[in-house]
Amino acid sequence: MKPKVFITKPIPKDVLDYISRHASVDVWESEGPVPEQVLRGKLPDAEGLLTSGLRVDGRLLDLAPRLRVVSSISVGYNHLDVAELARRRIMATHTPGVLDETVADLIFGLILAAARRIPELDHYVRAGRWKAGSQEHLFGIDVHHGVLGIVGMGRIGEAVARRAKFGFGMEILYANRTRKPEAEAELGARHCDLNELLEQADYVVLMVPLTEQTRQMIGAEQFARMKPTAVFVNASRGQTVDEQALVEALRNGTIRSAGLDVFAEEPISGDHPLASLPNTVLVPHIGSATAKTRYDMAKLAAQDLVAALQGRRPAHPLPELRSLLEDNLPG
Ligand code: DGY
Repeated sequence: MKPKVFITKPIPKDVLDYISRHASVDVWESEGPVPEQVLRGKLPDAEGLLTSGLRVDGRLLDLAPRLRVVSSISVGYNHLDVAELARRRIMATHTPGVLDETVADLIFGLILAAARRIPELDHYVRAGRWKAGSQEHLFGIDVHHGVLGIVGMGRIGEAVARRAKFGFGMEILYANRTRKPEAEAELGARHCDLNELLEQADYVVLMVPLTEQTRQMIGAEQFARMKPTAVFVNASRGQTVDEQALVEALRNGTIRSAGLDVFAEEPISGDHPLASLPNTVLVPHIGSATAKTRYDMAKLAAQDLVAALQGRRPAHPLPELRSLLEDNLPG
């Protein structure tokens, strides 16, 4: 008998067909979150779970006694309780690599949009406020040849740095637990501590994963260290930032502006304090949202799901769960 798989969001048809060849599949077809009552109905039989933002913790796992693998269509996996998965010997996988360039494009878009005030001035034109005469009140700041500071130099950070170096002639600083000799050689990137980066960078890009160590790592003290002309960009997770402190910093002119793909609670409403500020550029967590990249992510996640269900090694286990592979897959 084929193992049962529950999929918590619509996925491309041929990816669904691929999983269906190996498993008996149930899909929650709506884009909204799966209601608790549906989870209670589907999880007791599920051996595989394909999801993206669903919080998988002890409470949810109690509903899924047969579960062997959770495959997340995302690179970030802070929604998965890794310790609880490890304790229950349930494998979990994610989708690193395939989204790097796409997320880097979005980050660069946020840098440019915030520096040159593109959304704000788009509204200005549409509102019929463009008049002949001085443009001083429309001035932005230069991106080219500025200093880019990347906090969290993983693959996405490096892809942003490449755009900055080769496209915009920028100087690259990075703060990261480990040195990146290749990025230093290729991009002339300079490793420094977080405080120095915050003080020197014209553009501060936050790309750390959300962990207990990075939660709210950027707050009032860190904004105070930044230049008053600094642009802050976050495309990691909203909870890495003290959002109230960010609002204050933007309101008081402690920093110049912010480009944000992520928020402490998502989705935010139109009357969120960040949405009332003229010096923010806000997008709805779309870092990886192109058709090709979302397809590639779904496919990778599906392949790892099927591999784990078949007792093969998934290609992208969560690093913390690799040890589960040492002695066969659970199940
Ligand atoms: C991820 O996959 O974790 C990213 O947040 C997608 O934008």
